[in-house]
Amino acid sequence: MHDSLDAIWTHAWARLLAGARGRADPFHQGVLASSSADGPQARYAVLRAVDPGTGTVAFHTDRRSPKCLQLGADPRVAWCFFGHGEQLRLSGTVQLHLDDAEADAAWSASGRAARVNYAGQRAPGTVAEAPGEGGPKHATARTDDAGLDVARGNFALVRLQVMSLDWLCLSAAGHVRARFDRAAGVWQASWLTP
Ligand SMILES: Cc1cc2nc3c(=O)[nH]c(=O)nc-3n(C[C@H](O)[C@H](O)[C@H](O)COP(=O)(O)O)c2cc1C
Repeated sequence: MHDSLDAIWTHAWARLLAGARGRADPFHQGVLASSSADGPQARYAVLRAVDPGTGTVAFHTDRRSPKCLQLGADPRVAWCFFGHGEQLRLSGTVQLHLDDAEADAAWSASGRAARVNYAGQRAPGTVAEAPGEGGPKHATARTDDAGLDVARGNFALVRLQVMSLDWLCLSAAGHVRARFDRAAGVWQASWLTP
């Protein structure tokens, strides 16, 4: 595989697909970086959907969260994964799906435990007086069916249109690095010095 850009491309997307499917897979979550007025911000996000055909990936978040507000102001992100001795860096721009059919479909496909994450009474990152206060597991969170209907209003599906994919494989036999850039809808592949 290491001498074929086509094979690496297929392999990289297969890694992402496996990450989205398997909770135990190291590619199930990656570090997502966005820009803010205070500089770069990075945090983990779970990979929820992968579409190699359109070159898109997605995560779920609370629309009240700082990250969601940051992405509204500047939709450029980098999302970095590591596992199986491989680093995969994705970058591009995101689209926020709040009250549209795509967000509805993602919400419908989410189980109860996932929906509870959006039932917190306060925005994530609000300064609290006590551990967990205002969050989804706190006594004030409404997690009955009616409460989870309200929680839908806090949910966002965030889809990243990948514009660049950088794959690095660390190996004693020799590191290998490849990059795939999308320009005018066409993917260009190149080897990079690791
Ligand atoms: C393994 C892991 C996975 C996470 N997945 C998500 C996620 O998919 N969506 C999300 O909004 N926050 C997720 N979080 C929490 C964020 O990393 C972050 O702490 C929180 O959302 C606040 O981020 P913000 O202040 O930049 O908005 C995850 C945290 C960990 C440790």
